[in-house]
Amino acid sequence: MLNFELYNPTNLVFGKGQIEKLSVLVPSGSKILLAYGGGSIFKNGIYEQVKTALSGFEIVEFGGIEPNPHFETLMKAVAVIKEQKIDFILAVGGGSVIDGVKFISAAVHYDGNPIEILQKRILFKDVSKVVPFGTVLTLPATGSEMNSGAVVTIAATQEKLTLGGSALFPKFSICDPSVIASLPKRQLQNGVVDAYTHVLEQYLTYPHDGYLQDRIAESILQTLIQVGPNVVENPTDYALASNFMWSCTMALNGLIQKGVPSDWATHMIGHELTALYGIDHARTLAIIGPNLYRVMFETKKGKLAQYGKRIFNLTGSEDEIAQEAIIKTVEFFHVMGMQTKLSDCAKDYAKTADFIVNRFEERGWTAMGEKQNITLEKVKSIVEMSY
Ligand code: NZQ
Ligand code: ZN
Repeated sequence: MLNFELYNPTNLVFGKGQIEKLSVLVPSGSKILLAYGGGSIFKNGIYEQVKTALSGFEIVEFGGIEPNPHFETLMKAVAVIKEQKIDFILAVGGGSVIDGVKFISAAVHYDGNPIEILQKRILFKDVSKVVPFGTVLTLPATGSEMNSGAVVTIAATQEKLTLGGSALFPKFSICDPSVIASLPKRQLQNGVVDAYTHVLEQYLTYPHDGYLQDRIAESILQTLIQVGPNVVENPTDYALASNFMWSCTMALNGLIQKGVPSDWATHMIGHELTALYGIDHARTLAIIGPNLYRVMFETKKGKLAQYGKRIFNLTGSEDEIAQEAIIKTVEFFHVMGMQTKLSDCAKDYAKTADFIVNRFEERGWTAMGEKQNITLEKVKSIVEMSY
């Protein structure tokens, strides 16, 4: 097993009726920026619950954080925080609002042009240099409620870039599974596939001796396969909703990544498809992931075979099981309502592979994956295979 440090200071508050705990979770006397998205919180009663819980606090609202949050929008919130002397941010939303708030938190005291945070991938390690924030999660998917990473889009250049660092963990996150009742089916499907792919990014590498990490990863996959197809039909079923929400958090709160190799190239390529064509994040992963496993088959086949045996009970030779495991993954994505070809989701995509390869070359991303062997040629093949 590789050496590791496990640091996760987020106080995760999970369960029904927990939003009312905001009154004690937000530091007393704080002036709060209440950040939210396009307005779903007004239709499903979450806004009222939050406002009631925070009745004694001074609150400034900032709405309109879009899916795949824009740098340009977030900078408006940074200006509000500076003008109004706000000292705590509450993100109420899905991954986009939470990620947006991580960027805002980092940008307020950033000494320089905040666009550098994205372009230079600045790491934030000093908590005294960021604005503290908490979250009320409304969409299980990204794990952003319990990790310190974020993804932000620069609309002007159509670039989707990451930021993060140990100072950017939420102080607390309230995860009430009943909030998923109002989610559109498409977003529920996205949540299952995003979390499933997060596990695969950290699991489908090469065989290693992190036995416990493998077993935890496999149990998250099995739980998502068990509850995923049902929760999209019955989001008010609490047993389904709670297992779905907890699986999504566990898939990307750092735990299963400790002491083992990880890949993340499916995400890096997928981000480009969202930036170029506006395809939902999870749907880009369903398009790219299986083709990445095909192109990187020699590197990944040992782990693909373990996955095939343990998750799908497949039998046969190692190669046969590994190949069949990719087919089973695509089948699961189809059950979850995904389309797995770029041509299903975008028009005029013929130059996509060359475009992405050029961008990666400019950024110096020429060797990705757990063995640094996803070269630009491999990226080109993966994207072309996804047409
Ligand atoms: O904006 P509102 O009106 O709230 O509507 C949202 C949005 O339209 C809606 N929604 C959220 N909760 C709802 C609801 N509608 C009804 N009822 C509710 N309870 O859902 C839509 C999508 O929301 P969004 O936050 O964009 O979805 P998601 O949570 O999937 O987040 C996606 C973003 O997270 C990034 C992605 O790249 C993308 O930008 N990711 C962040 C990661 C991280 N921080 O660790 C990792 C992921 O891999 C991912 O890259
Ligand atoms: Zn993801």
